Amino acid sequence: AHQWRGVIREYAERLPVTESTEVITLGEGGTPLVHAPALSALVDGTVYLKVEGMNPTGSFKDRGMTMAITSAVAEGAKAVVCASTGNTSASAAAYATQAGLTCAVLVPAGKISMGKLSQAVAHGAELIQIDGNFDGCLDIARKLAENYPVFLVNSVNPSRIEGQKTAAFEVVDALGDAPDYHLLPVGNAGNITAYWKGYQEYAQPWKKPANSGNPAHDDAVELPAVATKTPILWGFQAAGAAPIVAGHPITEPETVATAIRIGNPASWEKAEAARDESGGVIEAVTDEEILAAHRWLSSKEGVFVEPASASGVAGLIKKHSAGAAPAGKTWVITVTGHGLKDPDWAINNPALQNENGEGAQPTQVPQDVETVAR
Ligand code: F0G
Repeated sequence: AHQWRGVIREYAERLPVTESTEVITLGEGGTPLVHAPALSALVDGTVYLKVEGMNPTGSFKDRGMTMAITSAVAEGAKAVVCASTGNTSASAAAYATQAGLTCAVLVPAGKISMGKLSQAVAHGAELIQIDGNFDGCLDIARKLAENYPVFLVNSVNPSRIEGQKTAAFEVVDALGDAPDYHLLPVGNAGNITAYWKGYQEYAQPWKKPANSGNPAHDDAVELPAVATKTPILWGFQAAGAAPIVAGHPITEPETVATAIRIGNPASWEKAEAARDESGGVIEAVTDEEILAAHRWLSSKEGVFVEPASASGVAGLIKKHSAGAAPAGKTWVITVTGHGLKDPDWAINNPALQNENGEGAQPTQVPQDVETVAR
């Protein structure tokens, strides 16, 4: 029987590992590419959702974290640190636990969801809440890694991008070629960077770079191109936290999509390169559009995501209303994290509120079959 072995073992020939690498994995990747009938009908094309909430800790971060923690172990690290809006901290805490490493996570006080906080606590991470936003946390995490014996596992660490590029490989492996368009949320901009790297690598013959530490292995690896093209990338930031759209850092980013509440993305230039080289765009979607897309996914497609994860879908709906989504195309939208990460938004979504501003209310009845039936 075949069991998916996690992204490092599945794509070893395209990642900076050798046969002797000690792999830290929770079986991440291999996530479903789910056909979205309502969105497909809307745009008169074929829309798929890459459902990254199906990863072991419930977000796409696990793809990068398996690589980052594997490199930390290879380098003999004893402790890792990250700044996070929640998902990276949950992922770092889980993978560090399996590797037997100490993990410290820096999060903006009061601005991460309970689900994500619980994960970091459950896995025994040293949870430090900072009075400030994600950008301030990342600044401190970088300085800690420079001055103390701790290994940084944010996406400024190239191994994170290497792991995350495997999502693009999976899309091409599933569809037989790259889609016409790929849409995704943009926060710290690591993921759009990673997808672009993955799509580019799959569209060319591949020779593993000679720096993987094992010359014999390097020589053995030469693979033909898998895809005939690369997709156009469309990235979407939350309107209150859209520095790339504005063209300058945002000092006080605000959005209900706390995962992407980021004012100065670390991979800013790389995201712009991905946008420009792919012929794409990076635009903003409002909180209202994000929550409407969140509701669309739950109520029309059967897919439950956290608010930030709906911003790619919000982007497609917005571009479609502006007449900018051509018919007859194949679209992939990454939905980045599971709905259970931040479930309040399902109940309190404005679309479900009654005239008193209350969220979805259960119907309460006595324990009686006829009443329940009625
Ligand atoms: N969606 C979710 C659910 C996220 O958690 C993040 C980032 C993004 C999208 C944006 O991805 O940063 O690569 O552009 N979360 C980070 C964290 C910042 O700390 O968990 P990005």
